[in-house]
Amino acid sequence: VPVETKIMRIAVLGSGKGSNCQSLIDAIEAKVLDAEIVCVISDVEDAFILERARKHGIPAQFISAAPFKTKLDGEAEARYVEVLREHKTDVIALAGFMRVVKDGLLDAFPGKIINIHPSLLPAFPGLEGWTQAINYGVRVTGCTVHIVESGIDTGPIIVQKSVPVMDDDTPESLHARIQVQEHVAYPEAMNRIKSGRLERQGRRMIEGS
Ligand code: GRF
Repeated sequence: VPVETKIMRIAVLGSGKGSNCQSLIDAIEAKVLDAEIVCVISDVEDAFILERARKHGIPAQFISAAPFKTKLDGEAEARYVEVLREHKTDVIALAGFMRVVKDGLLDAFPGKIINIHPSLLPAFPGLEGWTQAINYGVRVTGCTVHIVESGIDTGPIIVQKSVPVMDDDTPESLHARIQVQEHVAYPEAMNRIKSGRLERQGRRMIEGS
């Protein structure tokens, strides 16, 4: 099958409300993104992301990542890899997946795991990038879609969107404004990946011919 006609098979991993997953579902349904979400997996049994997926007829399952609390490793990681392979996953979109992914998953899908982070990286990696932005006092923050590497929030950048910080922002109001841009950025990043023209040069992801 020529690359152009092969539909990109996305698996989404999330732990929470799944609004970024929804933005990908919506972009696909609106035919703005030519791809298919083949499965949604959560490490949180009652995460709303699973409900959203099921509503759209997307296979959705809880897979425990115990006994670890903050990483995906060991037998749980192996189970994730197995299920992702069963669904013939091309690209994994982390969408609020609250665990550090380790070598087992990274090596199974090299360069194919994408994350969305609520700040303009490399500023404010880690938890609650929006709270970090307020506490630091920056006037502009945003969101970043990047390729996942073994460091935390360090991989090559695909798309960034900026968001102003207002004087009266609370962590919640800023996060909400960032999320509006996240929902534009993630489908855009997936389209860039889908084009097959993205080339990595050092840390840069640039459009080749
Ligand atoms: C987003 O802010 C994302 O940047 C971060 O976690 C949050 C997930 O939100 N990684 P949602 O579950 O997609 O609504």
